[in-house]
Amino acid sequence: MKVPKWPIADGRELELLGEVLASDRWGGYHPFVGQLEQSFAELSRCRHGLAAVNGTVTLEMALEALGIGPGDEVIVPAISFVSTATAVSRVGAIPVFVDIEGDTFNIDPERVRAAISPRVKAVIAVHFGGPMADMTRLAEIARDHDLYLLEDAAHAAGSEWDGSRAGSIGVAGSFSFQNSKVITAGEGGMLTTNNDSVSASARSILDQGRKPNEGWFFHYELGTNYRMTGLQAAVLIAQLERLPHQNAIRARNADVVRRALADLPCLRFQHVPRAASVHTNYLLLGRIPNRDRFHREVTSRGVPCTPFYPHPLYGNPLYQRGGCRVEPCPVSEQCVRDAFWLPHRVLLGSEQDTADLIEVLRGAATAA
Ligand SMILES: Cc1ncc(COP(=O)(O)O)c(C=O)c1O
Repeated sequence: MKVPKWPIADGRELELLGEVLASDRWGGYHPFVGQLEQSFAELSRCRHGLAAVNGTVTLEMALEALGIGPGDEVIVPAISFVSTATAVSRVGAIPVFVDIEGDTFNIDPERVRAAISPRVKAVIAVHFGGPMADMTRLAEIARDHDLYLLEDAAHAAGSEWDGSRAGSIGVAGSFSFQNSKVITAGEGGMLTTNNDSVSASARSILDQGRKPNEGWFFHYELGTNYRMTGLQAAVLIAQLERLPHQNAIRARNADVVRRALADLPCLRFQHVPRAASVHTNYLLLGRIPNRDRFHREVTSRGVPCTPFYPHPLYGNPLYQRGGCRVEPCPVSEQCVRDAFWLPHRVLLGSEQDTADLIEVLRGAATAA
């Protein structure tokens, strides 16, 4: 099958990059950075957007801005990219790994409730693959126990839960624009929040401890330089313009694929709750008993497929040495053995490409 390329760019990126290159501000003070922040805040229906170099430091900024540090614990799902946990470790706090739900692949709110200790200060919900985690139940638990609820929305630019956008429900949302994400500048990140003091504090952290409208050489906090460049912002403005259309194409094609393969009882795609029905389709996720054989069959037919993570996050050598708390995670352990994902570019093709994809998945599932 013809697999669409990703990332993609056209004359719009070149035009905007040209504007930055012709200017005398290629760095974080080019007006495109502020423009992107405003557009992304609008997409996320948040008061503030803070652009940064990637979606790992945006998580760290959020935790630091909330005052989370040594002596604190933060609950995270056992299944995510490593940044969700390392951001917690890097501010000096302890990640507490809890299990996911076997159908949505998102953090299990009941497991979150069971893991709460007096030291837990926050929960990070990851919207894995695009559909948002159950923010209704998570927000309720956070409220009951006086915890901060943060969103790792790296996969979820424009996703919704019950009509609210990713990044707008928790105290802050963290997005990634790394190469594989649904909008990308190769690298990049964005923090969204409706909380003015989190925004002011995170802004100061990412810009060398400065305060707005104070002198360049006046530093009020222990900050650093996490500023996104004008060159990244130029590319991302163009990418963001295309996002609604691409989200719609992926949604349409994902629906066609899921319906066409619904008769295969062995192949279970990610369950998308009704409240999460608007989402990015960043990953086409599923589970199948003979996963390794299925993975070999799919890739041998020229379609990219990843056999899930090799272990839950606590299986990484880093966390095998300690520095974390691990709750029982039988579902995560099982997903490591039987889950897979295909990247979103397979959902960006024509009707014929989608028909070919269905054929490949059916053939691979049958052979497995
Ligand atoms: C769930 C999740 N969180 C955080 C990140 C980190 O983002 P970045 O690579 O932009 O640092 C990623 C991805 O790369 C991710 O998938």
